[in-house]
Amino acid sequence: MANARREQWSTSFGFVAAAVGSAVGLGNMWRFSYLTAEKGGAAFVALYLVFTLLVGLPILLAEMTVGRGASRSPILALEHYGGRNWRLLGGLFVLTGFLILSYYSVIAGWTLRYAGELIWHGVPANPGDHFSQVSQGWNAFLFHVGFMVLTMGIVAGGVTRGIERVSVVAMPALFIFVCGLALYAATLPGSEAGYAYYLNANFANAFSMDVVVSAAGQSFFSLSLGMGAMLTFASYLSRQSDLPREAIRIAAADFGVAFLAGLMVFPIVFALGVEGDVSESTLGALFVALPEAFASMGLGGRFVGIIFFLALIVGALTSAISLLEVVVSAVVDGWAWSRVRSVAVAGGLITLMGSLAAWDLNLLDAMDQIANNILLLLGALLLSIFVGWVMKEAPEELQEGAGPLSWAGAWRFLLRWWVPLVLLFVLFHSVPTTIVNVRSLVFG
Ligand code: PHE
Repeated sequence: MANARREQWSTSFGFVAAAVGSAVGLGNMWRFSYLTAEKGGAAFVALYLVFTLLVGLPILLAEMTVGRGASRSPILALEHYGGRNWRLLGGLFVLTGFLILSYYSVIAGWTLRYAGELIWHGVPANPGDHFSQVSQGWNAFLFHVGFMVLTMGIVAGGVTRGIERVSVVAMPALFIFVCGLALYAATLPGSEAGYAYYLNANFANAFSMDVVVSAAGQSFFSLSLGMGAMLTFASYLSRQSDLPREAIRIAAADFGVAFLAGLMVFPIVFALGVEGDVSESTLGALFVALPEAFASMGLGGRFVGIIFFLALIVGALTSAISLLEVVVSAVVDGWAWSRVRSVAVAGGLITLMGSLAAWDLNLLDAMDQIANNILLLLGALLLSIFVGWVMKEAPEELQEGAGPLSWAGAWRFLLRWWVPLVLLFVLFHSVPTTIVNVRSLVFG
């Protein structure tokens, strides 16, 4: 039963804004910058771009095709095209969304706190100590709860009146903030060292498996792939929408913001000579190095800092919305609960789970690695196999609304062979290393 009562985006821009909102988030600014710093600059960026184009885009299209075609939430959509057993993959998506949101919201909580502090008190005297105080324990927990309540409030409003309404304002604002900050960074004396670091490739690194795995994981995380977020958002599209056109817009905006974030972070960090802090602590890089930089810029730094953390909050919020929507839509469709009740229960459980990450940074790091280096890759692998081998209607469904596409067959071929092989190869390397890393994070 294709259900007639299902909500739809009110405009095509509304969908793109929400999907870009999902894609652009902490991944673009926080994760992208610390990974680029840790994994060696432009060579990492190049690999990440290659993955986005050759693996990310085909999967993005695959998610959108399944979602719009079925007009159902992930579990039911997969069942619709593939039969009961494929519900398990939908279940994996929901679990992954649940896990990611639980720690994502803790980091987002830090950004809330930092923005508030900058507005009310200015930059903390010793950013390193400050970060270790506020990133764990009650401090972190309270802001995590605050952020979850915000997210739940928006998702409870529904697709058009909650998610779309926020996204169409938030996304343009975020874009303006990031452009402004990148332009500002260019005016700082000494910023050249930052550009040199960011844009000069050291390809020696690019051949290490660790760097390849991180680039692959980052391209999925950043595009919100492998856990049904894009599938769910596309399920609220009308059949007239042009999927390839929207997908390219989404991927371009996502890469654009990550690239711009690098153009802002690295010049600032190098101009103020705080690059040591970036390589020292990976997770906390932005939360230590940038405040230190802002501190040495005086009052102007405080203003820049506020804009920076506001941009992070906006990005994180629109991403968190999509993570929660995956879980909520599955509950609404699967158990016929009301949206408000689903939000309250799912959001409450996620908040509880996140409190573990709020009390232990190592656990947060471990959750991030499990989600990105295993679950998203596995979800994407299975979805690719699903659309490549099981969903016979895929090429027709992709062309619905877009008109005939000469490359529809090639796309399905990629999903049959190329994408699964690449992902298997990456998983083959990432599973053992992730298990080792997680073990040492959790058990010391
Ligand atoms: N893409 C988001 C970011 O870059 C994170 C995210 C991952 C959101 C998976 C939804 C699903 O921050």
